Amino acid sequence: MEAILKNVKGAAADRLILLAKGDKDYGGDDDLDTSARGLVRRAIRGGMFRGARGEVFHLLLEKRSATGCLTMLGLGEREKIDGETLRRAFGALARATRRDAPRRASAGDIQLRLADAPSREVLEKVGWEAGVRAMVEGYVLGGYSFDACKSKRKSPGGAPLRLVLGPGAIGTRRQREARAGLRIARAVAEGVRLARDLANTPGNDLYPETLAREARRLARSTSLSCRILGPRELARLSMGAMLGVAQGSAHPPRLIVLEYRPGGRARKTLAIVGKAVTFDSGGISLKPAKGMEEMKFDMAGGAAVLGAMATLARLRPKVRLIGIAAAVENLPGGSAIRPGDVLRSASGKTIEVISTDAEGRLVLADAIHYARRFRPDAVIDIATLTGAVVVALGHAASGLISTDRDLARRILSAADSSGERVWELPLYKEYSSAVRSKVADVKNAAGREAGALTAAAFLAGFADGLSWAHLDIAGTAWTERTAGYLPVGATGVGVRLLTDLALSLAKGRG
Ligand code: BES
Ligand code: MN
Ligand code: ZN
Repeated sequence: MEAILKNVKGAAADRLILLAKGDKDYGGDDDLDTSARGLVRRAIRGGMFRGARGEVFHLLLEKRSATGCLTMLGLGEREKIDGETLRRAFGALARATRRDAPRRASAGDIQLRLADAPSREVLEKVGWEAGVRAMVEGYVLGGYSFDACKSKRKSPGGAPLRLVLGPGAIGTRRQREARAGLRIARAVAEGVRLARDLANTPGNDLYPETLAREARRLARSTSLSCRILGPRELARLSMGAMLGVAQGSAHPPRLIVLEYRPGGRARKTLAIVGKAVTFDSGGISLKPAKGMEEMKFDMAGGAAVLGAMATLARLRPKVRLIGIAAAVENLPGGSAIRPGDVLRSASGKTIEVISTDAEGRLVLADAIHYARRFRPDAVIDIATLTGAVVVALGHAASGLISTDRDLARRILSAADSSGERVWELPLYKEYSSAVRSKVADVKNAAGREAGALTAAAFLAGFADGLSWAHLDIAGTAWTERTAGYLPVGATGVGVRLLTDLALSLAKGRG
């Protein structure tokens, strides 16, 4: 699925009409002929189309009409329309056109005239850049499907979305904003697609070496530089925590380091660190069998890092970016770590292993420490870290924990602009006390209470002195049910948020 922006209306094409809930009459553009407008009106008045968000209704026009088909897209209640509304509605639209593709005679694209009412009304409300961005993101992301593992032909692609500016917008601020929105949306879609593909790929195909290969491939096709550290380099850096997790698997670990340098002077350096456990069996503290297959997405944090780096390499903001993905497989092999083992991390801190299933924080401890060498102004880790954050927030938001008020505020505002929900949770000293160990400096698990927060407190101990934030995406990185612009499986969460955060740092806003 793709989207294009044109100045003039195309030849015969499917037309798209946006309508809100409760619109009684179609007050649409004048160049829709009377018979077409009559059909739209009848569909509304007859209750065939209500305008609920994501509702799609096709109308076939008369043979002599230049347009074969009109597609009506519902936006829900008028007062509530925002970027996220558009993203979700256009996601639903993408799937509807995709479903229709095989039985539709015309291979026509679907066309939205931006400067005509009621699209214009919506874009004026949401903003042209944000509005176009949301439409395109929704359409492209909603049309995503993962079929790399199917032996049969890929499911059919849907019609491209053609956004037409028209006389009301050409040569104005609106045109500039629409172009800017489209540019960001395309880059974002690329990054999210990469992140989803990686997280959807099963563990027998995606393991540390193959993830590293993907990172190298990404670096080659963009302006990113890439460095991959294997077991020998990790040993030289005394990364006993990361090596400890890796030692139960036949697949050796990889620390993936991507760097983006803007031309000219960068205002800031931002390091993003992703947990990339390519499969989490729990290790010796083995997980229950039921649902274990899902644990192939335990590298979604690392996937978000690669995706965000892909997006930002295309957008070229004035900020230096370090993307780190700590890739290991957590298996209970004969040489696996056991509960009771004490690991020495690269920071020098010793860690008592209570549960080998609390492996993410072990890997991140060394990866966060590694980020220090870049003298970052901020470090953000992103990880499918705890089941406890799912208990707290469900699938509705990622958990945010930060030691820096300013950074937290920026992340919350990036969450708003990107539509990736984040909810801040506290970091009280009680949580740090809970991970103190009798045998070593700290322990990697502290019982059931406040599990997301004791995990964060553990990480905070390794981010000492850094401006640091932690995103727990265990509840948001995967979805069981297709909705809006999120088809089942990996969501690619984090890419949009990190992109907006990096863009905001580059602009120095906030
Ligand atoms: N990868 C899991 C967390 C997870 C759970 C992600 C559900 C996605 C969905 C993590 O490595 C883990 O196993 N955490 C344990 C920590 C516990 C042993 C302290 C957990 O949450 O149960
Ligand atoms: Mn685990
Ligand atoms: Zn895990």
